[in-house]
Amino acid sequence: MSSDLILGIESSCDETAAAVVAGGRTVLASIVASQFGTHAPYGGVVPELAAREHLRNIVPVVEAAMTRAGVRFEQLAAVAVTEGPGLAGALLVGVTYAKTLAWAQGVPLVAVNHLEGHIHAVLLEHAGTEPVAGRTLALVVSGGHTHLYLAMLEASSWRYRLAGYTVDDAAGEAFDKVAKLLGLGYPGGPWIDLLAAHGDPAAVPFRFAEVRSRPERQRAAGPAGGESELFSFSGIKTAVLRYVESHGLAAAIAARAAALPPGSRPADALPLCDAQTLGLIASFQRAVVDNLVTRTLEMASRYGTGAVLVSGGVAANRELRTRFGEAGARAGLPVLFPSPALATDNAAMIAAAAWPRFRRGEFADQSLSAEPRLRLGV
Ligand code: KG4
Ligand code: ZN
Repeated sequence: MSSDLILGIESSCDETAAAVVAGGRTVLASIVASQFGTHAPYGGVVPELAAREHLRNIVPVVEAAMTRAGVRFEQLAAVAVTEGPGLAGALLVGVTYAKTLAWAQGVPLVAVNHLEGHIHAVLLEHAGTEPVAGRTLALVVSGGHTHLYLAMLEASSWRYRLAGYTVDDAAGEAFDKVAKLLGLGYPGGPWIDLLAAHGDPAAVPFRFAEVRSRPERQRAAGPAGGESELFSFSGIKTAVLRYVESHGLAAAIAARAAALPPGSRPADALPLCDAQTLGLIASFQRAVVDNLVTRTLEMASRYGTGAVLVSGGVAANRELRTRFGEAGARAGLPVLFPSPALATDNAAMIAAAAWPRFRRGEFADQSLSAEPRLRLGV
């Protein structure tokens, strides 16, 4: 029997990942080497450091995935790699490694769009089920993107159309910036996720207008069915900053940052946050989550899609999962998430997205390069 084993490789941002997936469905191994420790002191990803870390990690990470899967290189059917979007130097490490390996093994190379990969993190776990049989609406919500796509399965091939996007920050970026602003660690999402559960989400009444100003006007004016400037997250970030300034929180924030050395975990911050700060964090998260859920379900109803798929790092957020689930149930719409480990960057999603392309013989050649600004769909 010919092999159905795809080795996926992902290096678009600050995670070096490799995975072996059988038939686009069964994850035999998924290894992720995170660079949090490298970038944490800077409060964001430093591109040159990311590329250097990928270079260090790529060989051991691939070897670990192959060993865990119990698979030899000769058994692979193909090598799949993220070609973009992402950081140029980071992407190049994965692309160069994948090209070399595919050439050396004499197997096809499949190029994958990182955003399509995130969508396939959900499909991987729900493929073949009723809700994903036709037209779905896919929200990719990560550190770099907050994009809505119509995802359509036609003759075992996926097509995508951009339906909405953020005009400024991505939602994950807002989580990261607000966490930094409050003296918490990097990346900020998991810190805010944990701390928000201990605060009152009604403590700070962030006006909805702060989350949607321009997009709302554009949406009203935009052509029906056309892509929309749907989200905006820089307003809410500024609102948090204004709250910090007007309530004199700067000294407490500086003290908290000093008490959380690199290597600290989100739970370490809990005793360092008073009720006012926890309320601010919970209110921020509630505003962002409400905005994502409301806008996405409005678009699902407008396009009449059968299900909503939510993926990307922010899809690991517990409140987002709960509120999407509740709102979806009220609207009679299935809302599907990846398991938390597959929500953030990984290579299993890259191998899964490569599977339909592999089956159709859509191979990349040795001229493949990194595409930092690659778009998905039309
Ligand atoms: O998909 P991802 O791993 O990388 C990108 O492609 O950007 O997403 C990373 C983003 C970061 O902004 C991080 O703060 C956010 O996902 N994130 C979360 C959570 N876990 C990760 N945001 C909110 N709640 C979480 N639990
Ligand atoms: Zn991502």
